[in-house]
Amino acid sequence: MQQINYDELIPNNVNLSGDRRLQRALEKWHPGYIDWWMSMGPDGFQASQVYLRTAVSVDPKGWANFGFVKMPDYRWGIFLAPAEEGRTVGFGRHKGEPAWQEVPGEYRAPLRRLISIQGDTEPASVEQQRHLGKTAPSLYDMRNLFQVNVEEGRHLWAMVYLLHAYFGRDGREEAEALLQRRSGDEDKPRVLGAFNEDTPHWLAFFMFTFFTDRDGKFQLESLAQSGFDPLSRTCRFMLTEEAHHMFVGESGVMRVVQRTVDAMNEAGITDPHDVNRIREMGVIDLPTIQKYMNFHFSVSADLFGSEMSTNAANAYTMGLKGRYKEEKIDDDHQLHDSVYPVLKLVDGEFRWVEEPALNALNARLRDDYVKDCAAGVKRWNKVIEKAGIEFTLEIPHIAFNRQMGQFSDVHATPKGDILDDAAWEQRKDEWLPSSDDETYVHSLMKAVTEPGEYAGWIAAPKVAIDSKPGDFEFVRIAS
Ligand SMILES: [Fe+2]
Ligand SMILES: [Fe+2]
Repeated sequence: MQQINYDELIPNNVNLSGDRRLQRALEKWHPGYIDWWMSMGPDGFQASQVYLRTAVSVDPKGWANFGFVKMPDYRWGIFLAPAEEGRTVGFGRHKGEPAWQEVPGEYRAPLRRLISIQGDTEPASVEQQRHLGKTAPSLYDMRNLFQVNVEEGRHLWAMVYLLHAYFGRDGREEAEALLQRRSGDEDKPRVLGAFNEDTPHWLAFFMFTFFTDRDGKFQLESLAQSGFDPLSRTCRFMLTEEAHHMFVGESGVMRVVQRTVDAMNEAGITDPHDVNRIREMGVIDLPTIQKYMNFHFSVSADLFGSEMSTNAANAYTMGLKGRYKEEKIDDDHQLHDSVYPVLKLVDGEFRWVEEPALNALNARLRDDYVKDCAAGVKRWNKVIEKAGIEFTLEIPHIAFNRQMGQFSDVHATPKGDILDDAAWEQRKDEWLPSSDDETYVHSLMKAVTEPGEYAGWIAAPKVAIDSKPGDFEFVRIAS
């Protein structure tokens, strides 16, 4: 078991006390982090006792350590997955060479950039979600929200550790800047678009953790392949935390769907488009759930950047960022002559075009992401099917509502029909949440804080967390 040392100000399994300079640098960063957490973390619950999971070791078994903690006292720290003996670079120009324990001089700038961009997303989502505690549909959900939030805070620590430990002064400046930017701020916004959007209510939160945290999974998976071993080990441990975030999203949407189809069946409503009657029961109709999927999927797809990318090609060739499950792919891992099919709009029609695989790495990662999303959506549809309702939730066409990449200058329906500007303006409320939809969903967001009780628009979970009974008081709210 690789234990985490909790005796120090900054819990860690990287022998921080053996590196005084680094320890001092991080201790200097620490108060700024706490200030950021207190001003931008969960609003109104910093004094509450939350039943949180804290890692005690980085082995899978070291995980299930639950207890009541006030969030500001959470043991954030620096945890790396165990080193793999004899690990080599798995792809690119340096394939087969020993993995680097220090940053190769010529790759300093691109590596720092990759780490800073990943790092920026972590505090951003905490900022986006900071008001949600006040409208939690149950104490169970509130706990899950806070668990996600403290872990995103720790992911920031993970990236800041790399910046401080390996990038000297520029690294420290980047680490400082991560505490300065703010989600949605006009003057100093977060780096990526989706992390400047609002997460105004719980349906958005569940969609965010399903679609946007899943982008995080795919970025971390490809960084976990890195030839820079400390980055690889950091990301491998972060992925174990990320899995829980996606569980919160997938099970959250599933419970919303469950409650809706149950209410429809109780009332004898068979038509899922009978929106008014369905809303009268205080549940979220399936077409509206579909609209939120459309929105969150499309903004999350933007996070993969342009389909064709020289930056991505360079990062691969340098051995900094690999492909999803690189080690399971059967090819030369250098992509000298290979091709990859990329969906393109050619003369007004969608066509798969073979492109050099090295330049199409973003497209490939996004394709892997879409497959992963589809598996979850299938499980949501099972719930609808089981209830005997005729409706299928669908991931929209990849060209729908895009701001990045080759589809950003066209309008397409979720089915992939191309529209002109006028038709798009006229019809977009059919596919994206309208202000009426937002008002309706907002109207449902009332806090339920009685242990074991759930808001009327969401079903109780089948099992709670850490085998606790359903009426367990997951958050002891400080008054
Ligand atoms: Fe994260
Ligand atoms: Fe996450």
